[in-house]
Amino acid sequence: MLVLGLETSCDETGVALYDSERGLLADALFSQIEQHRVFGGVVPELASRDHVKRMLPLIREVLAEAGVEREQIEAIAYTSGPGLVGALLVGASCAQALAFAWGIPAVGVHHMEGHLLAPMLEEQPPAFPFVALLVSGGHTQLVRVDGIGQYQLLGESLDDAAGEAFDKTAKLMGLDYPGGPEIARLAEQGVAGRFAFPRPMTDRPGLDFSFSGLKTFTLNTWQQCRDAGDASEQTRADIARAFQEAVVDTLTIKCKRALKQTGLNSLVIAGGVSANQALRRSLESMLEGLKGKVFYARPRFCTDNGAMIAYAGTQRLLAGQHEGPQIKVQARWPMEQLPAI
Ligand code: KG4
Ligand code: ZN
Repeated sequence: MLVLGLETSCDETGVALYDSERGLLADALFSQIEQHRVFGGVVPELASRDHVKRMLPLIREVLAEAGVEREQIEAIAYTSGPGLVGALLVGASCAQALAFAWGIPAVGVHHMEGHLLAPMLEEQPPAFPFVALLVSGGHTQLVRVDGIGQYQLLGESLDDAAGEAFDKTAKLMGLDYPGGPEIARLAEQGVAGRFAFPRPMTDRPGLDFSFSGLKTFTLNTWQQCRDAGDASEQTRADIARAFQEAVVDTLTIKCKRALKQTGLNSLVIAGGVSANQALRRSLESMLEGLKGKVFYARPRFCTDNGAMIAYAGTQRLLAGQHEGPQIKVQARWPMEQLPAI
């Protein structure tokens, strides 16, 4: 089955063509980061308008790249939530209009299920069951995954998501949006051990997270240094390093606990923060100790993209799921509500 996938939940327009026999044929992405950077974060109205401009040219681009005629497309998968409603509506309207015009089915895909399944596009995909750590700009969740649509939430963030903590902390330290890659880059120049940061909620049982205190701790540390006349680039890098290590350590401790609780030794990390090299290294060394394995997508498919939506949609379409011609999106949508296939 040849499926066109469309992603428009936030500030990236992603389009891809996935074939259930041949795999991923083409994918294209337009990132709006430059447009939002001057505002220090995503401006929803600008995001929606830009998706409108980019969608059709990107679809033409993937068709040309894959050497596919539009008559060969058998179904369309699009992100129907969670995300920014205006942005989601652009993808949903476009998908439903094309599906209607071409006389093919359309299926709405859960954005986080897309992230969760993105490592399936790699050469050595994970096998069910596994524990998944979903770490994006909007979500931090630990999930037991027994199959597609068989999700048991083990723990989640009670306040900021991990990516959100990176973004907000970066902003407080005068770094650009999005903050994750900026902090990661700066942290590489930082010296470990200069500052002692807390590992929130690791001293009590449970698998929930809280990152907002860490953000305040970072701001206070940065302000104290500046008040003491030390606003050097090295100090900023040392703080970025301490912040990143605190987040990575906290995530690693909770992943280890989740693996112990479930008795599994296979871990999938997905979402924008799973592109973080320090996180990958830390989880890999933890899993080595457990004789297990960590799976993640190539960096391009860790952040938002059309390939993960085309893949997840294909699995649901193959199982006979699709929608009527309604245009319906959901800003909030617990992943556990998805049907199993
Ligand atoms: O999955 P994603 O592209 O969008 C959402 O669904 O939210 O994730 C974006 C988030 C942003 O918060 C960004 O700062 C973070 O992922 N991120 C990173 C890195 N690359 C992206 N965080 C830490 N280290 C990175 N290398
Ligand atoms: Zn995402």
